[in-house]
Amino acid sequence: MSLTHLTLTNFKNYQTLDADFSPRINCITGDNGEGKTNILDAIYYMSFCKSFFTGTDSLNIRHGEQFFIVQGTYDFGDHTDEIYCGFEPGKRKRFKRNKKEYDRFADHIGLIPLVMVSPYDINLIIGGSEERRKFIDGIISQFDKEYLLQYQRYVKILAQRNHLLKETPQTWQIDDQMLQIYDDQLAESGQFIYQKRKEFVTGIAPIFQKYFEAVSQGKEQVSLSYTTTLDEKPLAEQLQENRAIDMATRYTNFGVHKDDLELGMSGQPIKRLGSQGQQKTYLVAMKLAQFDYINNLCGQKPILLLDDIFDKLDQSRVEQIVNLVAQNNFGQIFITDTSTTRIGEILKKVQGDNLHYNLRNNTLTRM
Ligand SMILES: Nc1ncnc2c1ncn2[C@@H]1O[C@H](COP(=O)(O)OP(=O)(O)O)[C@@H](O)[C@H]1O
Ligand SMILES: [Mg+2]
Repeated sequence: MSLTHLTLTNFKNYQTLDADFSPRINCITGDNGEGKTNILDAIYYMSFCKSFFTGTDSLNIRHGEQFFIVQGTYDFGDHTDEIYCGFEPGKRKRFKRNKKEYDRFADHIGLIPLVMVSPYDINLIIGGSEERRKFIDGIISQFDKEYLLQYQRYVKILAQRNHLLKETPQTWQIDDQMLQIYDDQLAESGQFIYQKRKEFVTGIAPIFQKYFEAVSQGKEQVSLSYTTTLDEKPLAEQLQENRAIDMATRYTNFGVHKDDLELGMSGQPIKRLGSQGQQKTYLVAMKLAQFDYINNLCGQKPILLLDDIFDKLDQSRVEQIVNLVAQNNFGQIFITDTSTTRIGEILKKVQGDNLHYNLRNNTLTRM
């Protein structure tokens, strides 16, 4: 599957944009602020019915205009799909496939699998544990609706349990029966989430390692593992045993909302030890592992967006990444970079169909 044609109307900095793309590697180069990321965001939009950057659709409308439209033609081999998205403030956002409007966006998400790698994703490496749980949950729930339901249930019960702990006046006895009901429900959903997360991380860890080694040429040893107290004991037991602590702190101290990923390099946390380039390599390898995981699950190669990821990486790593994604197990790729010569040189060396555009004054020119 690949995006063959993209049309933008009043989307961000573009009054109009019409572009054809290669089913393999597409590079867009240009100076800062020319609108490279905005093109990738439009492509992201057509997969997820929203911008990578903001949930506020009015921000995507070109300043001074009243609406935006993003349209794409996708080649699925045996058929093509026309995807349309139109938004005008005050009206409902319209999402269509072959002129037929979707009732729910959720029915569309998954049709065009996509993996984005953006400089903003570095928080996955250097940010708090919440970022990493979001990463895991986002990937699993995209293809496992039961997981999404259990996750939503967990979040809701956790909020109710915390509310009970927090709002019961200090002088009152906490309602034990109510707490037990919450504990039972929380344990049930939590145990489910734990199992799925464990399977997921166990599955992607070796793939991640393979990609990291390929990009770094085996220079560093890395590890990726799931850390959770549920490895020691079922959640039901932990909740039971730690009630006194929860009552004292008025908060739920144990559960899958405390899980994390341990990201190691040479036996140390990458967050503390890694250089910016090493952290970036780590991020790219994680995202490529995500690519493999989705590919295996849905039998379709996701579109891969590599937005401005080469800054702070040495030439050898940049070349390794481009060589990797140029292999046949990858599908359509979009790469943006500020350096036209760097990308031009690398593209000369890779086999196969590729397209290089330079972006200036909202216009794409073939190089
Ligand atoms: N809603 C909008 N209307 C007009 N211009 C916008 C809008 N949103 C973003 N821009 C412009 O897009 C430009 C940034 O584009 P971006 O794709 O991030 O550039 P690049 O990735 O090439 O550095 C900025 O100049 C910004 O002002
Ligand atoms: Mg950019």
